[in-house]
Amino acid sequence: MTTVQASTAQVTLFEVGPRDGLQNEPETLATEVKVELLERLMESGLTRIEVSSFVSPKWIPQLADASEVFQRMRRRRGVELSALVPNLQGLERALAADVDSVGVFMSASEAHNQKNINKTRAETYPVLAPVVTQALQAKKQVRGYVSTAFGCPYEGAVNPLEVVDVALRLLDMGIQELSIGDTIGVAVPTQVERLLAELDAKDVPMSQIALHFHDTRGMAIANAYAGYRCGVRTFDGSIGGLGGCPYAKGASGNVATEDLFYLFDGMGVAPAVSIATLRSTAAWLEQKLGRKLESRDRRVVSGEEGETTV
Ligand code: HMG
Ligand code: MG
Repeated sequence: MTTVQASTAQVTLFEVGPRDGLQNEPETLATEVKVELLERLMESGLTRIEVSSFVSPKWIPQLADASEVFQRMRRRRGVELSALVPNLQGLERALAADVDSVGVFMSASEAHNQKNINKTRAETYPVLAPVVTQALQAKKQVRGYVSTAFGCPYEGAVNPLEVVDVALRLLDMGIQELSIGDTIGVAVPTQVERLLAELDAKDVPMSQIALHFHDTRGMAIANAYAGYRCGVRTFDGSIGGLGGCPYAKGASGNVATEDLFYLFDGMGVAPAVSIATLRSTAAWLEQKLGRKLESRDRRVVSGEEGETTV
């Protein structure tokens, strides 16, 4: 099932840097810097952005200002602003902030689920089901993440059938989009094909799936290409390759939005996004974070590989 015909050739990039990226930074960025980051990302033409998380501030202090970020940032027509929510308390905060969409999340592996959200998988379903129902009632879009879909930092290999089981339960709750997460960046393209084939066998449309790769071993672009060939058209990325899960040891940054753009632009299927604005945003963010960002694109344009222009 490597050449499934999708309804459109063009891909959508779902930007997770302000959430997945900043949740993993040792330093908490000031709210005004986050707001400027979001402004710059919207300016680039990205249409789907995960702004922050309404999780416990004790667990993720870096994103404790989620409500304030939403309150302070300007909205742009046509841009979907999303946030992660773990429970009804998070949803209440997200609705008060007037999000466009929410993301619920859990893991395919028991141990990561426990470390990340302090519950077994079985305990998680009854927490998430009313979140999905109430979010849909409030006319919000709902995405569901399945983390550790290709490997768990505590349990090792994860059986694709376990991923399918979690995915189907989330879809049964009513989520409209399923984001399959390679939380610690261990997948290779054949595993991506295998998992997508298993989901396809259960009649999950590829148009409902997003792929969320972390780039620990440099496999993310190959994996995204495999996903594209299978018919997936939505890919999560983060500006400059920021990212990681603080409750998944060894998880490195997400695949960079700029690197995904390079792949899909070269294939002629990229969305209308300004790579120049993404690049200037990554350069600006490096200054704010006080460190270099890891994207391939960043290394090329900042001259580390001997090039100064592209
Ligand atoms: P818990 O401690 O079991 O929660 O945490 P609780 O329900 O027992 O409540 C404990 C305290 O937290 C209470 O406060 C609650 O009010 C508060 P206290 O009475 O002690 O003062 N609380 C909240 N406060 C604000 N907003 C909330 C909220 N909920 C409870 N929503 C909980 C359970 C799920 C809350 C916690 O484990 C948590 O927040 N975990 C989030 C961890 C996280 O954000 N991880 C990273 C995101 S997942 C990820 O990165 C993977 C992904 O990128 C995909 C991939 O890469 O695979 C999505
Ligand atoms: Mg992630």
